Amino acid sequence: MYQLLDGKQTSIAIKDQIANEVRQYTAKGMRPPHLAAILVGDDGASQTYVANKEKSSHEVGFTSSVYRYSSNTSEEELLRAIEFLNDDDEVDGFIVQLPLPKHINEQNVINAISPDKDVDGFTPINIGRMVLGEDAFLPATPMGVCSILEHYNIETEGKHCVVIGRSNIVGTPVANLLSRNKKGANCTVTLCHSRTRNLPEITRQADILVVAIGKQEFVTADMVKPGAVVIDVGIHRVPDETKKNGYHLAGDVKHSEVDSLCSWVTPVPGGVGPLTIVSLLQNTMKAYRKHMSLN
Ligand code: GUN
Repeated sequence: MYQLLDGKQTSIAIKDQIANEVRQYTAKGMRPPHLAAILVGDDGASQTYVANKEKSSHEVGFTSSVYRYSSNTSEEELLRAIEFLNDDDEVDGFIVQLPLPKHINEQNVINAISPDKDVDGFTPINIGRMVLGEDAFLPATPMGVCSILEHYNIETEGKHCVVIGRSNIVGTPVANLLSRNKKGANCTVTLCHSRTRNLPEITRQADILVVAIGKQEFVTADMVKPGAVVIDVGIHRVPDETKKNGYHLAGDVKHSEVDSLCSWVTPVPGGVGPLTIVSLLQNTMKAYRKHMSLN
């Protein structure tokens, strides 16, 4: 019988720890940590993400602010907003919600964020620090994958971890983090992608299978070794007339046939998803401690 890696419960436990830490500081008269977000345009999914980040920030006692810009904002104007937040001593960390409108160069924008406030871990400096194993803000989803494994005391050392997907924000950093010489890592990692040959043959060797390919129900039973730990990072809206909102959510794993093979598996929704915002809160807490010289 498989067991669920419950991201919702894990996120509640970590948020409790953060809220406790915030209370310790505010009880001494210090201001709470402040997470800001820049939101450009009116993309529905982005608005939902930012609203969830605000809600979670408030739950742990952070100050939260959102700077909204219209979709025709120029890159220069956005860069000025970033400069403003870089210089604002009352802001510990901020994110620029992606994607940005097409006329704005995303990499220029990311490069402008101060590495000390880059709580998304998207700047080249933080990515470089991560790869070197230095102290860094880690990207939210990969950090969430590590947090859930750690929360359930899943042994990683010496395990063969197969990652499917090599995106900059999930697959590549997950492969990096799990192969590091650190507690909660030390895996032997294989990174698979669109040009990988004999994919099922490789994924069947995985003790830990991390799926971040962005294709609905891509991983089927024939691709999974019995007893594997399966982490599904995918999230897809599937039209469903029986649901009030008109859709249900599916992952990159075909859970109806894969789950029964697993020792542990993340559900979708309620797996890695809730952990990503928690990672952002953890990074903001870290930025605050550094900013306030607390450690
Ligand atoms: N868009 C989708 N996910 C993310 C994220 O983690 N951070 C930012 N800034 N934008 C996103």
